[in-house]
Amino acid sequence: MADARMENRAFWENEELKLDERAYYAMWPGGEKAVERLAKQGKAHVRALVDKLIDPGTEFFELSRLAGFGMDYPDVDDVPCGGIVTGIGKINGNWTMILANDSRVKAGTYFPITLKKHMRAQAIAARCGLNCVYIADSGGAYLPMQADVFPDDQHFGSMFYNMARMSAQGLKQITLSTGGNTAGGAYIVFMACQSVMIDRLAYSFLGGPPLVKAATGEIISAEDLGGARIHNQISGGADHFCTSQDEAILKVRDILSMEPPQKIHSARFEEAAPRLPVDAIYENLPAKVHQGIQVREFLKAIADDSRMLEYKPHYAPGRGDNIVAGKIRIKGLPVGVIASNGLGIIFVEAARKATEWIVRCSQDKTPLLFVQSSPGYMVGSESEHMGIGKYGADMVRSVSCAQVPRIQLVIGPDNGAANYGMCGRAYRPHFLFSTMRARTSVMSGRSAAEVLLSIEERKHQIKGSPMEEADKQAFRQQMIDKYDGEAHPFFCAARLLNDRVLKFREIRDWLAMAFEVSLLKPIGEPAFGNFRF
Ligand code: COA
Repeated sequence: MADARMENRAFWENEELKLDERAYYAMWPGGEKAVERLAKQGKAHVRALVDKLIDPGTEFFELSRLAGFGMDYPDVDDVPCGGIVTGIGKINGNWTMILANDSRVKAGTYFPITLKKHMRAQAIAARCGLNCVYIADSGGAYLPMQADVFPDDQHFGSMFYNMARMSAQGLKQITLSTGGNTAGGAYIVFMACQSVMIDRLAYSFLGGPPLVKAATGEIISAEDLGGARIHNQISGGADHFCTSQDEAILKVRDILSMEPPQKIHSARFEEAAPRLPVDAIYENLPAKVHQGIQVREFLKAIADDSRMLEYKPHYAPGRGDNIVAGKIRIKGLPVGVIASNGLGIIFVEAARKATEWIVRCSQDKTPLLFVQSSPGYMVGSESEHMGIGKYGADMVRSVSCAQVPRIQLVIGPDNGAANYGMCGRAYRPHFLFSTMRARTSVMSGRSAAEVLLSIEERKHQIKGSPMEEADKQAFRQQMIDKYDGEAHPFFCAARLLNDRVLKFREIRDWLAMAFEVSLLKPIGEPAFGNFRF
């Protein structure tokens, strides 16, 4: 037993080293050379700017660092960090969304994944009521993929639509331009509530000097066409003139110092550290992803004082407790929990209990945490006849309509309709966090291999050439590899199917931040539509 726990721990620590390696690559595209190139232009790299922008000694909660890996776009395999740094940090004590182009990645141009990451950060900001700071330094659309980034909803134009709408809601949109902002990209400066430009570093124009020359024959420098001086003194397109990045950062902080302090719409109790150390998570969660988990122990390692008030703990033993429900506090904030337990297969009783609990938490305006480790709802005639379809649908309805903040954390299998009932991406959780133990796909590799093999076998039989055993085995393995690869947190994070892959030891801090941010707006009244019961 003790050996198994030590083996689990060694396994997860090693997995998280892989996570660190990948994150490092994302954070330092082009290595030292790229940083030196920027320094020669008198510029600090984007991460140094973000560090200076947030309150000293506070943490920057960076989102989606693994976005853009292995995307295989024209001329590039990876877009490190998606080409844009996004995350939440405190500026003058207020949580603020920061979006900062990384000019080391193809001049900060927008690939489809860059846009997706930008849109996601804006969506979080709009939903939670966060002011936004844009550190703009971008060559605009990644031109070889213009059709994939320019014309559609959620493409380039949506960045500015979102700025306009957020500003109309009273959310400040501040741009610090520290590099090129050309063509459509220029709007990042002009759409801002207030924009700061840096002399001889920042440029903003609808057409750059080469385009102007081609279109009108006029020969003009970037500085004279749309530099900081022009936009501050002549066009009026910018509001603050600075002579260095450091001065510009201070100016942004100064502008936001006029904002009212944020309020949390929740009771907040005194924080208490968990009594179970975080190491217990590493030891408790089996290295084998499809092995059952003891989720109560996991919850003890993240809850204040390791305390949970469990809901219906004695209901339908063996069938009702494949979901554990209850209330915990995380850094003083009350949180309702719906957590997969054991193998995580959701039986009728568990679906009913979860639905009840979601409705109760909605009634008393307690935000919800979904801890997902479920391969799906129980199948078979007994389950179907008992109404697993309708009770699963009730759970999905309650998840969809619950008006309280909802956060999903994936710590195991995440397949099929359990992805819906446990508040997967389509159910728009305020935040979706993953871990190295998460596996998100329509079904497991092994199940998919059997389904697809049966289809393949039928095709061969119709053709009169039945499959040999060796062919079947090879086919199975190919499907298992494909499905398991696509379910892996690296694959999902690259495509922004989660907001961050967390190390186990980061979970508590991140959940506390995410719930706090999600509670900055008042919670609405519950309304659920038609349950079937
Ligand atoms: N689309 C695709 N690739 C682009 C790009 C774009 N819009 N803008 C820059 N790049 C690429 C460059 O080809 C270069 O690739 P490489 O490293 O493989 O050689 C890389 O990004 C860095 O560009 P570079 O010009 O060396 O960087 P810089 O810091 O000297 O200049 C800009 C940055 C943004 C001022 C300059 O690249 C530029 O003017 N780009 C065109 C901007 C534009 O007209 N965009 C219109 C979009 S709507």
